Amino acid sequence: MEEKNLQMSMGTFAKLRDIIYEKSGIYFAENKKYLLENRLLQRVQERNLKSFEEYHYFLKYDSRRSQEYPFLYDSVTTNETSFFRNPQQWEAFESYVLKEIISSGKDRISKSLKILSLPSSTGEEPYTLSMICLEKKLPDLGWNIEIRAGDLSESALASARKGVYGKNSVRNTPPHYLNKYFHISGENYAIKNEVKQLVRFEVMNLVDAGKMQLYRNFDVCFCRNVLIYFDEKVKRKVVSHLYDTLKPNGHLFLGHSESLHNISRAFRLVNFSRSPIYKKE
Ligand SMILES: C[S@@+](CC[C@H](N)C(=O)[O-])C[C@H]1O[C@@H](n2cnc3c(N)ncnc32)[C@H](O)[C@@H]1O
Repeated sequence: MEEKNLQMSMGTFAKLRDIIYEKSGIYFAENKKYLLENRLLQRVQERNLKSFEEYHYFLKYDSRRSQEYPFLYDSVTTNETSFFRNPQQWEAFESYVLKEIISSGKDRISKSLKILSLPSSTGEEPYTLSMICLEKKLPDLGWNIEIRAGDLSESALASARKGVYGKNSVRNTPPHYLNKYFHISGENYAIKNEVKQLVRFEVMNLVDAGKMQLYRNFDVCFCRNVLIYFDEKVKRKVVSHLYDTLKPNGHLFLGHSESLHNISRAFRLVNFSRSPIYKKE
């Protein structure tokens, strides 16, 4: 088929890269042209277009362009995630952050815990948070738990809401959690309703200052494994948005290979058993 041999010129690559960068913050360097070509080819074909140049024109000027953007985001994002990803960070969350929050709420009549999981991808991270809160019996102890979760990718969010996972997603999950919080049927692991009930999913965009203003007063924010896709300018902007989502003394978790070095001095670095956590002062 002719479309399979479509090539993206450097000029079209630059125009598409700029749109993606402006809308999502994701930056494709020039040596990633082949990757962008591979990822967008299906969209060109599904829209019955003849070239990447026509696809660019569609995104810029077609009256249906706003319907295309979610597909564009789905095509350029990498949704890799799993339950209990990077176990030492979960240990730090439970033994340091959650412990501090629980002890500070000891004498309060109304106890509330607000957590933001952004980007949540297909839901494994916010559901891990939910299971830990349930395992600590926080709702029974009078805590009102709110876990807000979001991602740019609508297809990732649709899977998250479904909550059915394969073996690979649960590979780090302690057996006790697997037996207690999932319905296991053959190769499928379906998350139980009690876990789902604490989590609310919606489309969120880390680079959209207007939309990020909707998220405020969180005790903890998980923003793991996304800064790696951004350049320094976008990282600074995103981190300032994350700062604003947190309460004073709130905690920020980044991916284990990510850091705020040269990005922000607004947080204090706390090292808990080799796991860095950032605290808003
Ligand atoms: C590798 S996953 C990380 C998921 C999870 N936090 C984890 O660490 O396992 C990266 C996610 O970032 C999302 N993403 C990329 N740019 C984004 C943006 N500007 N706003 C919100 N989510 C974004 C992608 O859709 C993808 O699901």
